[in-house]
Amino acid sequence: MSSVKGDAVTVSGDSRPNDIREGREGLPGWTYTNAELFDLECDTLFRRHWQIVGHVNDIPETGDYLTLDLVGERALVVRDRKGNINAFHNLCRHRASRVVAGERGNCPGVITCPFHAWSYELDGRLRGAAQAATFPALDKDEWGLKPIEMEIWHGLIFVRFQEGPQPSVAELFAEHEAEVSPYLLDDMVPDGNGIYLTDPIDINWKSSRDVDNEGYHVAMAHPGLHDLYGQNYVDEAGVGDVSRSIGHFNTAPPRLWSVKNYRKMVDALDAPWSALPNSWVYMGLYPNTVVAIYPDSVIFYQDIPRGVLSSSVRGGVYRRREESRALKAARYLSGRIDNTTIEEDLMLMVWSQEAVYSSGYDGIILSDLERGVRAYHDRLRQDLPVLNDGEAPQAGTIHDRNADLLKGG
Ligand code: FES
Ligand SMILES: [Fe+2]
Repeated sequence: MSSVKGDAVTVSGDSRPNDIREGREGLPGWTYTNAELFDLECDTLFRRHWQIVGHVNDIPETGDYLTLDLVGERALVVRDRKGNINAFHNLCRHRASRVVAGERGNCPGVITCPFHAWSYELDGRLRGAAQAATFPALDKDEWGLKPIEMEIWHGLIFVRFQEGPQPSVAELFAEHEAEVSPYLLDDMVPDGNGIYLTDPIDINWKSSRDVDNEGYHVAMAHPGLHDLYGQNYVDEAGVGDVSRSIGHFNTAPPRLWSVKNYRKMVDALDAPWSALPNSWVYMGLYPNTVVAIYPDSVIFYQDIPRGVLSSSVRGGVYRRREESRALKAARYLSGRIDNTTIEEDLMLMVWSQEAVYSSGYDGIILSDLERGVRAYHDRLRQDLPVLNDGEAPQAGTIHDRNADLLKGG
């Protein structure tokens, strides 16, 4: 039996106070399995931080909508008759059913609840209740859909379910503005495959982030990425809400078919895309989202926890409105490299998660090359200082203990 406490590790009663893991030990194992902590994470992180729903060009027509389900919250973004995009809770004011059932679709001029047919205008106002005379008079504004805070940044639609500590999305990304602008993301369109949501796997969402937050494993686990940029990958992680990682394409000639052809197609791009850097840049938005910019496409993905031990990934790919043959081929090939990477990472996430159940597990040690993981854990500890506890606090006390620690208690 072993446990990690502060900087001392106890293994079978043997104390090693000067453990070389200090500052490199990652989060304690209990934080990957504890349901009470997960509730706190849902509240502190997922409900109060910006989340991508999609891109404005996912919903180009009047009545087009997208939804996002996250930790019990349900967002609906819909384009109204004036062309504006509005965000609401996907929650009928009658008996709180979803007002739209799908992940995307079109409401032809009006949103009609599938339960008892209350109807809402596309700007959220109540149009009318079915059999309205059986209710007291319902004010159309007061009984409209409840708005959710929304911001559009370079065409990406962000919502925040509850007021949170982050500034606006534009402010969060301000220092990356000059880098992002030339990609003209605002005008990009979906790749035609829609927004995906993977089947859940039996991991805590942090096991997914931990794998995604470092490139140390690329050389071993991702032959494609290694061939593309493995020698030149850098995590520039600080303790902030937007981290940046960059993989400059290798100068050595690629060996794999997909990477070789991808590089060839990127070299054949026309202006202005030919002027974009030969790199893939990942911007991680705390706590669970990544926007990545490639010469041929822009993608986003986000971890969607389905429970303390269940997690999915949701994401989308955006392309240029007009694509040359080379651009289209490059996008196809970058997608292929990415899909292989996702497959390869799945097993690593499962293995990271299952480690904490082993009786031999006594924590981990992180390399300097895993600074992204360290910085991310540091950022989590700012919001959730209870993550510093080597063992799980007594059941029923985690919320209060965290609140006390935040107050300096
Ligand atoms: S719950 Fe929507 S109409 Fe009844
Ligand atoms: Fe990976």
